[in-house]
Amino acid sequence: MNFNVFSRLAIAAACAWITTSASAETVTISCGAVGSEFKLCQEGTAAWAAKTGHQVELVSTPNSSTERLSLYQQLLAAGSSDIDVFQIDVIWPGMLGQHLLDLTPYSKGQEAEHFASIVANNTVDGKLLAMPWFTDAGVLYYRKDLLEKYAQPVPDTWEDLTEIAAKVQQAERDAGNEQMWGYVWQGRAYEGLTCDALEWIYSYNGGTLVDASGEITINNPQAVQALDTARGWIGTISPEGVLSYGEEEARGVFQSGNSVFMRNWPYAWGLAQSEDSPVKDKVGVVALPKGGASGRPAGTLGGWQLAVSNYSAHPALAADLVMYLTSYEEQKRRAIEGSYNPTIEALYKDQDVLDAVPFFGSLYETFANGVPRPSSVTGDNYGRVSNAFFNSVHGVLSGTVEPQAAVEALETQLKRIRKRSW
Ligand code: GLC
Repeated sequence: MNFNVFSRLAIAAACAWITTSASAETVTISCGAVGSEFKLCQEGTAAWAAKTGHQVELVSTPNSSTERLSLYQQLLAAGSSDIDVFQIDVIWPGMLGQHLLDLTPYSKGQEAEHFASIVANNTVDGKLLAMPWFTDAGVLYYRKDLLEKYAQPVPDTWEDLTEIAAKVQQAERDAGNEQMWGYVWQGRAYEGLTCDALEWIYSYNGGTLVDASGEITINNPQAVQALDTARGWIGTISPEGVLSYGEEEARGVFQSGNSVFMRNWPYAWGLAQSEDSPVKDKVGVVALPKGGASGRPAGTLGGWQLAVSNYSAHPALAADLVMYLTSYEEQKRRAIEGSYNPTIEALYKDQDVLDAVPFFGSLYETFANGVPRPSSVTGDNYGRVSNAFFNSVHGVLSGTVEPQAAVEALETQLKRIRKRSW
């Protein structure tokens, strides 16, 4: 990945007299570009620039978290000062920590307003390495109108979903909608598949791949059953193409009206509800199904933080931008305009937010209790653990390996990565 491929966009400070003043500086931030992220980042940083008289330059990054990580690792390993503020994934503090500034002197205790579990996740060796920006959990989107039309319930288990998706897909195709699919999700070999597969496995009581004590747990019958269920979807209720879908590809199919169900993060709601969306007012959002009657619904914990690079030439200013962007008002604006989940608990009781995104209230438990990937316990090794996991799951979904053989091989591979300890 070459840094030159990245588009750069300078946001001018609002007041000309300030930009020409000797003290005006430029802070560079890398923010995501999935859905409406980039636009919201532009607006937020422009407001900070107008308020402070400084300038902000935005660097957009690849949508895939896996690709973004390798870009960041290259920049940080080289000690590059090109980017001051990094938008980092909830699974990265352990991997990037050595390159990030302790924000404690700048946060002035404001982290106490945010979910304690995320603050703990972002704190390594007593240092607050990143401020929480938005949280995520996988949720199920469904077409209200289609379930009503065919008198089908909202699915409670993956087995229900499989059956209902097949029924509605067939009925719609018979009615002339040849493009119709039952279920779209993230099946490409990248971090997104780790999230989806963790949900399936956990929902069948098959654990989290590596447990909180560092034990490798993936080789178990429930995990096999979960993978077996998911591979049955390929080519039946999910297009073959799902094997190369990320979040935005799944959203593209669902939002254009061509799928009954979709697994995605909450950001897809704001876009599904936009004025020009073909599915506006036809969508419901609930917790993901559970694995069989004895399973439990699971949404993988995702989300993004803002961190300041150790190599920044203006750390105090960069930290000021981070505190502004993660503040109550800015998180409120992002929740209302883009359905990005706040990390500040009080915003889940804010009526303006609940009016814009009703499921922030109804699914509060899903967001507060997202299933974490084993990134804290595997620390520096998490990248290799997740790569091994999504590649192995992708092999099962593509039909190149049987689920039982896959979990056995994965267990061996994870033991090799772990050696004596994580
Ligand atoms: C979302 C989540 C992030 C996760 C990624 C995977 O962006 O917030 O935590 O790693 O999806 O695709």
